[in-house]
Amino acid sequence: MGNLKRKTILLGISGGIAAYKMCDLARQLVRASYNVKVIMTQHAAKFVGPATFRSLTGNPVALDLFDDPAAPINHISLAEEADLFLIAPATANVIAKLAHGRADDLLTTTALAYQGQLLVAPAMNTQMYLDSVTQENLATLTARGAQLIGPASGELACGDSGPGRMVEAQTLFGIIEDSIQTSDWLAGKKVLISAGSTQEYLDPVRYLTNRSSGKMGTALTRAALQAGAEVQLVLGPASAAVPVDKRLACTRVVTADEMCAAMISFALEANLIICSAAVSDYRPAKKASIKIKKRQSQLGQTNQQDTQVLELVQNPDILAKLGRMKIEKTLKADTILVGFAAETNNLEDNAQAKLERKGADYIIANDVSRADIGFESTENEVRIFSKAAPEADTLLPKTSKTQLARQILQRVYPLS
Ligand code: CTP
Repeated sequence: MGNLKRKTILLGISGGIAAYKMCDLARQLVRASYNVKVIMTQHAAKFVGPATFRSLTGNPVALDLFDDPAAPINHISLAEEADLFLIAPATANVIAKLAHGRADDLLTTTALAYQGQLLVAPAMNTQMYLDSVTQENLATLTARGAQLIGPASGELACGDSGPGRMVEAQTLFGIIEDSIQTSDWLAGKKVLISAGSTQEYLDPVRYLTNRSSGKMGTALTRAALQAGAEVQLVLGPASAAVPVDKRLACTRVVTADEMCAAMISFALEANLIICSAAVSDYRPAKKASIKIKKRQSQLGQTNQQDTQVLELVQNPDILAKLGRMKIEKTLKADTILVGFAAETNNLEDNAQAKLERKGADYIIANDVSRADIGFESTENEVRIFSKAAPEADTLLPKTSKTQLARQILQRVYPLS
């Protein structure tokens, strides 16, 4: 525990009245033996003087990209040194800059260079917070892996009342403590994740696929990296952004057969395997080597006699193959195998059946008939079914896929 407490917490403070709450947070963190470094924007320095944070933390306060020509390049060294980066208060302007990768001051430049766990506590007027642009920017940050804290609702400095208040220092302190104490519980572990869809070709230009965006799988990848794991991602076609990290290897595949071969080759080394890909269950029985042509008809007429029947054959069930390898003890003895279940009906029965049929330790079930969660969405809600107690599932309520990914990992591979 003593070792955990010496971690460096980087506080990025932007220009809002809630900056004063950060004095209390800095004091609490220092008391808990964290090394606290502070970056302030020029506007933040108008609310609270840098000297206050210097006194509270015992460290110089970084204000400008060109603070000290003799020092190492500040935004890079701060980004590398930090075990956790909290931006609070985060104004609408700073949130917009973070969402779009603008780096025009020390705080935003450091945020762009920083690859670890980013917490963001918004603070602004209610209308600014509720504006669709701000909401889109916040959704972008969440999708990229940032964890949003608050805002709370209540009376605001401008006289309005509603959502927009920065959460209290005590809340921020608790979340930092939780994040740090579990921050590297997967260190030394190898995690194998499948994500995205697969494409099954009929001819060189046409394929069967599904709506998976790969967002849940890439969120799991990010969460595993943040927890200190080495991750092998096997990614089918997907629109989700893949994190850049030296502990991540990403193998791109297209078809279910390719995904299956890759997953099986990496499985032997893995401590935790998560099959989150939406694998196409079937592929065309034959793939034409040249583009399939339609039968031509009279000019401007549709040829009603030209019908096509598509014959499909089953693809390998990758999760079930891995389940079999686990039973046959081909995998490491303590490998945990996790599958997903995308259901539109009878979620509970189907998920329990999949646990058994696929030999998985856990099935993470989600309702893909709901428009607000699941496929393509940035949010999800899941029920976790376990082999140990199939009847007693756990609900993880609707939240961002980023937060959910972390909660799923904590459930299926708890800190021992
Ligand atoms: N899966 C797999 N290989 C397949 C199909 C699915 O590895 N060919 C995995 C998925 O990655 C997921 C789990 O099996 O972890 C369940 O996938 P899902 O699509 O919900 O179920 P299916 O097995 O396809 O069954 P059904 O279509 O009957 O619901």
